Parts: sequence; structure tokens; C-alpha cells
Amino acid sequence: METFINNLPKAELHLHIEGTFEPELLFKIAKRNNIKINYDSVEELRKAYAFDCLQDFLDIYYQGAGVLITEQDFYDLTYHYLEKCAEQNVRHTEIMFDPQTHTERGIAFETVINGISKAVEDAQQNLDISALLIMSYLRHLSEESAFKTLEQSLPFKDKITAVGLDSSEKGNPPSKFVNVFEASIKEGYIPVAHAGEEGDANYIWEALDLLEIKRIDHGNNCLQDEELVKEIIKRDLALTICPLSNTALQVVKDLKDHSLKIMMDLGLKTTINSDDPAYFGGQVNQNYIDTQKALNLNKEELYHLAKNSFQYSFLSESKKATFIKELDEYYSNNK
Ligand code: ADE
Ligand code: ZN
Repeated sequence: METFINNLPKAELHLHIEGTFEPELLFKIAKRNNIKINYDSVEELRKAYAFDCLQDFLDIYYQGAGVLITEQDFYDLTYHYLEKCAEQNVRHTEIMFDPQTHTERGIAFETVINGISKAVEDAQQNLDISALLIMSYLRHLSEESAFKTLEQSLPFKDKITAVGLDSSEKGNPPSKFVNVFEASIKEGYIPVAHAGEEGDANYIWEALDLLEIKRIDHGNNCLQDEELVKEIIKRDLALTICPLSNTALQVVKDLKDHSLKIMMDLGLKTTINSDDPAYFGGQVNQNYIDTQKALNLNKEELYHLAKNSFQYSFLSESKKATFIKELDEYYSNNK
């Protein structure tokens, strides 16, 4: 099974570039920028990665991102992740980045976007990996701040495909961002949002009805509401499930209790993703491997998860078809 998963062609649809920051690289970049961090060693920093909830994690995640200063830093971070993709047969990835995490501390928007997008271009050339970018608004900040970010992004519109909504969910419902999502859609960005990770089913309803999202990040709590499940299926929206994130942030106690299989059996379109792999103990393949073991998924189910990852990506129909053909060939030779 592990070999089957490792070689399975797949896409990753829920990944925060700031969440790929491995302690080794973090220390290296901090040193390069003469920034003192609160931990004496890589091991000590890793030990701090034990979380009670989303906010616990976010506090340490924003601290880590604070050492990123130059375009080269953003390039190195992104290229390092794309090399991991190549090792795992991730053929396509949709990378979220949080501009406000950086612009709020004085880093220029263009430094962030140029570093990330240069790494994407190089990986396309050197590693044959396809990637696109999702600019995520931080929901703990104001809608006004999100509007400012939207404006800053416009000169770089050709490099960004979608907009997302992340950070502290509870108390920051999608309704807070209706206007900026409407304006983002007008600019041609595809809307997605984190919803129903810690927030209840109402947060998902709002993301659907008010933000008109085309994919749901997490969405675990949709199972609280039968009507909502029906609506998600009717609208043919996929859920980007992040199993190791869910256990790390105590959204789910144990992987054995994860509702992924229930969701699949209900007809919800689901995908497996890593969210913030440096913090949650596993890249995307480890998420597949651990979930397969915990829920006893068979090869056909793994194939469907990988197929969904291409089908519900934001690639053109022709590119989706090319990747799905590659997947189909792999599956028929390795059943
Ligand atoms: N930012 C990075 N990871 C996140 C998550 N799992 N939920 C909300 N915001 C995030
Ligand atoms: Zn996320």
C-alpha cells in the first residue's frame, strides 16, 4: 500500500506555503537575516509543535513566518516544498500564501509574490511540477485590510488564480468578508474558504451562500447538517480534507475517528492534503498512508481520492484530462 500511495499521481489542493517551513530551513534563514528566535535548536523548536487548538498553532506559525524577509527567502521556502512534491509524485499543487502575514510587518507584497512565483516557474521547468497560487485573506484582520491586499495584488493578477480565507475561524465568520470576496470575484479570482474546521455548519452555509466558494477547505463540520451535505453534493463542491492537521489541532481525537470515509460514502467529493506539513508531522503522502491504515481504505478508494484531487483542481479541463489519464494508466497497471 505504501508503495502504491508513494507512486500514485496526485494533486495537493490545501497547502499553506508558510506551513511548509521546516525548522532546519527556518534556522538557516533566521541566521542569514540576523534574526534571533526564541528556541536554541531545531529539536527544541520541533518540541514546541504540540497544539491544543487552531489558535495555539497559529501563534507559533506566524512567529516562524516572521523570519522571511527577502525575495530569496520566499523563493527558497517555495522551492523546498516543490522538491518535496517531486519526491511524492504530486503532479500539481495549489499553494496558499498569506500576504498579510508579511505586509503587516513591512515586507512588500511584490517581494512575497515574486519569490514564490519565481520558484513555481523554476519547478515547472526543472521538476515538471504544475502549480498555481491562492492568495488567502487573514480572517482575524479586518475586511478593510483584506481590501488593501486585494488592491496590492492587482499588478500581479496573472500570477494568482484564487482567493482564500484562513486563520482563526471562530468569531470571524465568512459574512465579515462578503464585500471583499465580491470584489475579488469581479477581478477574476476564484473564491475558496476555510470553513467548518472549528466553526459549525453555519460557517459553511455562509461560505457557500455569501462568498460563493468553489471549494471548501476542511469542511469537517458539514456532517452536523443533513441539508448542508445535500447542498454541497448538489453544487458539486469538493472538500479539501487534511487528516494529520485535524488530529494535530484536536479537531479529531484519533485518525480512526476521522469522518473521511463517511463523507465518501455519503457521496461528498473529498481530497487528502497536508495543510501545514512542517507542523503537523507529515507531507501529503504520509496523510494518505496514515489515513489508509486508520480507515482501512482500499486501492479503489485511494484512486478516487487522487482522481478528485485533479478533477476538483482549478486547472483547465484539458490539463485535468492529461493528469487523470496518467492516473488511470497507473491504476490499471497497479490495481
Ligand atoms: N492557516 C494555516 N493553516 C491553517 C488552518 N488549518 N486553519 C486556518 N488557518 C490556517
Ligand atoms: Zn489550511
